[in-house]
Amino acid sequence: MSDVVSVRKEGAIAVVTIDNPPVNALGHAVRSGTFEAMAGLRDDDTVAAVVLACAGRTFSAGADITEFGKPPQAPGLGELVDQIEAMPKPVVAALHGTTLGGGLELALGCHYRIAAPGTRVGLPEVKLGILPGAGGTQRLPRIIGPVEAVKFIVSGEFVAADKALSLGIIDSLADGDLTEAAIAFAGKVVEEGRPVVRIRDREDKVAPFRDDSSAFDAAAAKATARARGLEAPFACVEAVRGSFELPFEEGIKKEREGFLKLVAGDQSKAQRHLFFAEREAAKVTDMPKGTRPRPVAKVGVIGAGTMGGGISMNFANVGIPVTIVETSQEALDRGFATIRKNYGISVSRGRMSEDEMERRMSFLAGSTDMNDLADADLIIEAVFEEMDVKKTIFRKLDEIAKPGAVLASNTSYLDINEIAAETSRPGSVLGMHFFSPANVMRLLEIVRGAKTDMDVLATAIDIGRKIKKVPVVVGVCFGFVGNRMLKARSLETEQLLLEGATPQQVDQALVAFGFPMGPFQMGDLAGLDIGWRIRKAMGSDSDGGKAEIADALCEMGRFGQKTGRGFYIYEEGSRGGTPDPEVEALIVETAKKHGIERREISDEEIVERLVYPMISEGARILDEGIAQRPGDVDVVWVFGYGFPIGKGGPMHYADRIGLKHIRDRLAYYAERSGNEKLKPAPLLETLAEDGSGFAAHAKAKAA
Ligand code: 3HC
Repeated sequence: MSDVVSVRKEGAIAVVTIDNPPVNALGHAVRSGTFEAMAGLRDDDTVAAVVLACAGRTFSAGADITEFGKPPQAPGLGELVDQIEAMPKPVVAALHGTTLGGGLELALGCHYRIAAPGTRVGLPEVKLGILPGAGGTQRLPRIIGPVEAVKFIVSGEFVAADKALSLGIIDSLADGDLTEAAIAFAGKVVEEGRPVVRIRDREDKVAPFRDDSSAFDAAAAKATARARGLEAPFACVEAVRGSFELPFEEGIKKEREGFLKLVAGDQSKAQRHLFFAEREAAKVTDMPKGTRPRPVAKVGVIGAGTMGGGISMNFANVGIPVTIVETSQEALDRGFATIRKNYGISVSRGRMSEDEMERRMSFLAGSTDMNDLADADLIIEAVFEEMDVKKTIFRKLDEIAKPGAVLASNTSYLDINEIAAETSRPGSVLGMHFFSPANVMRLLEIVRGAKTDMDVLATAIDIGRKIKKVPVVVGVCFGFVGNRMLKARSLETEQLLLEGATPQQVDQALVAFGFPMGPFQMGDLAGLDIGWRIRKAMGSDSDGGKAEIADALCEMGRFGQKTGRGFYIYEEGSRGGTPDPEVEALIVETAKKHGIERREISDEEIVERLVYPMISEGARILDEGIAQRPGDVDVVWVFGYGFPIGKGGPMHYADRIGLKHIRDRLAYYAERSGNEKLKPAPLLETLAEDGSGFAAHAKAKAA
């Protein structure tokens, strides 16, 4: 037998076990081992039925993603699924853990499926920019119908075992030991002479759609409504459509073609890059093996404002009690009311029950006395961005926090080392930078100070994962990775206006690039007054390039959405802004004042002048070791700022289009404008000269 596939027999039932940790990915060795095992059992007259199971924490979580892009090795997964389906004796899949992608497709080739309670199933291929390529788009609709299937496949969401049972994806839930239950189930199938069920032969769920596909079309349109710019969701729809428009084998052929096209495309490469980058970003290169996180059973949050409230919700969501401290009862009440309102929105949309909301609220306590944080294992400070205030808080925390408590600041740009130096325990201090809205945005920048202890870093990563964030470890500098690059993006935003673009043209160019919104829409949403106040306090250039227009708008009381006016006008209750001639007049007047002759600016120029300076700043960040790897920068921008996933993040995108091109364009814009800040970063220069890329450079450095 192979190293990763074994066969044992219990009477007339054979059990084939795949054992390929950590997630039983279906790499070549697994496929060929299983193929061989099944072929042997097919011809073995002493075997009446087969159970297919997986060892370890999960049934297979799918194809081995690392094999994509390499020459295929037979047997392919589709071939294996077909072989199992064609077995003349019943094959029962025993599912547990996360049965995903090719893992679920393998199970759908089996004639029956039994699952341990707690199992989750899904076809998440779409999240890797591909479609299920081993029959999933043809077999699943034959069980649950094309309408449910298109929702399932386009969302890529996981479904719990009880729902999978009610949908018919699984036939039975196991009681007690899974393999024993599967053997008993197989025995019963044999004893009762139940048929070998081949899903490919089922027509009842798909046939009705041949005459009228309107329900499918409506479900497909809804499922892809937010998939702008991505190819895979639409390809998934077309593949599922094949399940009722085409005979099975032709549907499979169409699925295969779609899969091969996507897997070779730039978007899937970008999304696969992000899959691995997301997992790598939390790994700290110099963290000794076996570093253990400190336990976190109780959390303290200082500040019940927008950030503090959102941060607290993350912990309540996973059942970790939080004490929120504010300076007054009134501020506390306001904060709690906002949290309740936010949960209430989920309740009103049917995504959460009233009981669940109350359960989560019960994990939140308020206090106006910081001494109440004495027993917290982790304390996160989330007050406004003023160094002196933060220092006072950390001095106080040093007095009251228990030994071993992790002390974190949610600062978005201040120096963590300076804050840590206020305490007698700088090793316990770090940054945990959440992104607004903190209960929604998945990015968590973990800012490692010069003296941060390894186990403190490990604690922040571990708890970050527990609250379902994507932790990325970054170093100390002004704005860390995300905001520092955002600042670089701001270098040219207003300049583009003065030279001839309109706010809506700039925003639309970035939306067409794939961002959810452009810089002016973002400014209006976040509040233009935030940057304005910082600029007033710290000097005009502190949060980016010139912000003359934004400052003028703020002087007029136009702070963005919250005042109904900013770069755009917002009708009462509307989040979509309309262009304002008054703003255009202000832009034209300001340009005139500076003697700038306005001209037509292409969308291409807008994208280059906004995105390339970010990439250049990303190169500086890598050079300084603020980010460990280019993938970390990508993860920050995708999960924190909505950089389009189909482009894989700024550094991956840069590698794809070529660093030489970016270097040349930046050099051109720097020369034309005389703006030194637009000059390409030294690392970008060097790599462009060498014909290299950020990923190749990181790989060479790691070797
Ligand atoms: N192929 C290769 N490696 C994989 C993998 C896969 N399908 N799934 C997970 N891994 C690796 C991870 O990279 C990670 O490696 P590391 O330890 O070196 O960083 C390790 O397995 C453990 O993964 P996680 O850290 O993600 O572990 P979790 O327990 O948090 O999550 C999981 C487990 C839910 C299974 C998650 O790993 C996951 O979502 N995996 C991907 C599932 C997927 O997308 N399947 C579809 C694959 S495409 C396919 O099947 C095509 C087919 O239709 C033809």
